[in-house]
Amino acid sequence: MRSIEEIIEIKRDGGVHDVADIRRLVDAFVSGEMPDYQMAAWLMAAFIRGLDSDETAALTEAMAHSGRTVDLSSIPGVKVDKHSTGGVGDTTTLVLAPLVASCGVPVAKMSGRGLGFTGGTLDKLESIPGFTVVLDPDAFLAQVRDIGVGVIAQSADVDPADKKMYALRDVTATVPSLPLIVGSIISKKVAGGADAIVLDVKVGSGAFMKSEDDARALAAELTRVGALLGKEVTAVLTDMDQPLGHAVGNALEVREAIDTLAGRGPADLTELCLVLGAKMLVAGRVAADESEARSALEDAIATGAAIEKFRQWVAAQGGDARVADEPELLATATFTEAVVAEHAGWVTGFDAEGVGRAAMALGAGRARQEDAIDPAAGLLLAVKTGDRVEAGDTLAVLHTNMPESIAEARERLSAAVRLGDAPAAPPPLFHEV
Ligand code: URA
Ligand code: CA
Repeated sequence: MRSIEEIIEIKRDGGVHDVADIRRLVDAFVSGEMPDYQMAAWLMAAFIRGLDSDETAALTEAMAHSGRTVDLSSIPGVKVDKHSTGGVGDTTTLVLAPLVASCGVPVAKMSGRGLGFTGGTLDKLESIPGFTVVLDPDAFLAQVRDIGVGVIAQSADVDPADKKMYALRDVTATVPSLPLIVGSIISKKVAGGADAIVLDVKVGSGAFMKSEDDARALAAELTRVGALLGKEVTAVLTDMDQPLGHAVGNALEVREAIDTLAGRGPADLTELCLVLGAKMLVAGRVAADESEARSALEDAIATGAAIEKFRQWVAAQGGDARVADEPELLATATFTEAVVAEHAGWVTGFDAEGVGRAAMALGAGRARQEDAIDPAAGLLLAVKTGDRVEAGDTLAVLHTNMPESIAEARERLSAAVRLGDAPAAPPPLFHEV
């Protein structure tokens, strides 16, 4: 058996690992035998040298089986999970989970917290007063059998390899590596017990994959490795060159999700949820094709079935379901301040990461895992790419309880909204379906 140091050496020199070496790395890291500094060295070697198809599949499988795997077989039907590669103001899970459940596809989902400039579903849910994301596994399964939907925190004993590796990648500049992202996402989904997976692969300034070619390659590899591990994977390439919807920040995004479930949400968020939701209904075998699925989703919004499922879900997890009808029960910030355009022009695009960082400065995100976030903090964008603005028009409204953060957020937001002299077309929401 090779030593850990020998295995790192192989990747450093551009060699190829066999399955046994990869299993050994993952097992040794999870057990604590391999310290963080050795894994950090291997991650950087893997980032620079790459992993081939077989190595990626072996890594994914070893990670998926590094802890407990969730057994969803007591829930009837095809269990479909959805995953986004991460973005700014991405509120889709909050909309999709109840929307899809209201159409008969059970949603039993484990989600993560926000790190860096991207938000996390758990933080958004916890901004609903009383909502708990920690349930014991049996209570969680019973809830999904009962009302068709549940979202909980990733538990420490499911895919512990990803938890430890992701934390290291986040601080060693090794996140945007195709094979490492594939291992991270697919291993979590396999360990989470879903039968089918719908992936929203983000492309653009607010995503890990900045170019369409990179995102397409990631989608292809996610689908291939998923299939190797027995999961049906559908991938959609969607735009993250501007934040999704208007809201960035936890309680603000819950409001936006409620609006969308009630049929008055932003056009881009609504459309993304209808397209991803349709794929989930087809994968879940409750609709014959995507057009039938789309009609079912539109009906669920129009009849109120979707927002009713949201109320049931919030109540089941201890939250105050009145927020569905009285969003003013959500936390609100003491200070709100508009950022206005300094000159007239057209919005030609965003630095979506910069928008995320402005929201973080206001208190909406965490720079370190142990940082607290302020549910009320964030911002509401008043403009989208393609809009015309005059000098003095509002670009965004900042929400915060820390007035001392406003100057930095204002500067970041102003720099993140690109104003040009010529009209710009809004970017396509979908790059490839
Ligand atoms: N999302 C994940 O879950 N893992 C990654 O590595 C990147 C995005
Ligand atoms: Ca949003």
